[in-house]
Amino acid sequence: MDKKTLRDIDLTGKTVLVRVDFNVPLAAGRVVDDSRLRATTPTIEYLHARNAKIILVSHLGRPKGAVDDALRLAPVAVRLSDILSLPVATAPDCIGAPAATAVQALAPGDILLLENVRFHAGEEKNDPAFARELASLADVFVNDAFGAAHRAHASTAGVTAHLPSAAGLLMEKEIATLSSLLAGADRPFVAMIGGAKISTKIGVLTHLLNTIDVLAAGGGIANTLLKAQGRAVGKSLVEDDKLDVAREFLRQADRAGVTVLVPVDAVVGPVGDSQGAGSVVAIDRVPPNLMIGDMGPQTVAAIGTVLETAGTVLWNGPLGLFEEERFAGSTRALAHALAACGAVTIVGGGETVAAIEAAGVADRITHVSTGGGATLEFLEGKTLPGVAALDDA
Ligand code: 3PG
Repeated sequence: MDKKTLRDIDLTGKTVLVRVDFNVPLAAGRVVDDSRLRATTPTIEYLHARNAKIILVSHLGRPKGAVDDALRLAPVAVRLSDILSLPVATAPDCIGAPAATAVQALAPGDILLLENVRFHAGEEKNDPAFARELASLADVFVNDAFGAAHRAHASTAGVTAHLPSAAGLLMEKEIATLSSLLAGADRPFVAMIGGAKISTKIGVLTHLLNTIDVLAAGGGIANTLLKAQGRAVGKSLVEDDKLDVAREFLRQADRAGVTVLVPVDAVVGPVGDSQGAGSVVAIDRVPPNLMIGDMGPQTVAAIGTVLETAGTVLWNGPLGLFEEERFAGSTRALAHALAACGAVTIVGGGETVAAIEAAGVADRITHVSTGGGATLEFLEGKTLPGVAALDDA
């Protein structure tokens, strides 16, 4: 990594502003998935062990510059405190007198979580005055929010104009793991890419053609590729205005020597009948009045065979409409196949990580990325503003 990391700076006794991505799902005032909190503990514990005063700053949801009581970070502080077995103080705002008072109360090693930084419009505008106010709380800035590193906001990028800065341990690990994927992954390199729309993934799909050997496509992306190949897909989710994009992608994959696996069979059912059962059909037998909701068992078996001999597997995006039980089979089965295969395995994206967690196999995946959009933009080869803004090594 060509950026400074925590280990390059003397942090002993310093007041450190740490950008974290605690944008986590909440329900009934509790954190539903704490994986992003757990992923950040190495950085917090590193700073705590050095008697730094730790000021955590995060966004939660998209409150668009106004206070939204449903998006306060208090439940996150409670959960974080449980995980760390340490007290985590909160402040009612992230700047101004409430923040300054809370910082002044910190003793060496103490942890403070500021209120949702997106309650201020200056955050997403990367307003220099707002960034200066945030920076005024600390001596050093550490960015551990890989999941938000694709945003050029005040707390991810702007603050670095005012403070010495470095990457946190999670940020460093994400960048190192994903970089090693793009250069020098063990072959064959298989990408399983699902999700609703080819338009949101075409950048990463095209970029991956430089690196991968096999693409297994699922979800709406597979439907659009199938239709682009001239197949009838009934009432399936398809981006009809992206059929040219899909055809061009298939041509590029062919030129790059990448094998594209599209479903050979499918689980179909009526649109909107989420309680009903699906039925399996060959891919050239999709009834005109039904939708493809999932890959069929022959497709799952074929991908499973490919995984058995893979050197590296990247998975992003559910392979069917897994929120409906009738269409959840392939995502569940391939989560287990991924965990069981001998390859280096990397999973990214909120829904995909949720699928891995639901299958109970997260601890058997080599690297579960905390990023959604950030992971995709990184794999597209884009520069992440939150990384670019940090001090060079
Ligand atoms: C995410 O969950 O992907 C990150 O926290 C970024 O959130 P955003 O898309 O609202 O910027």
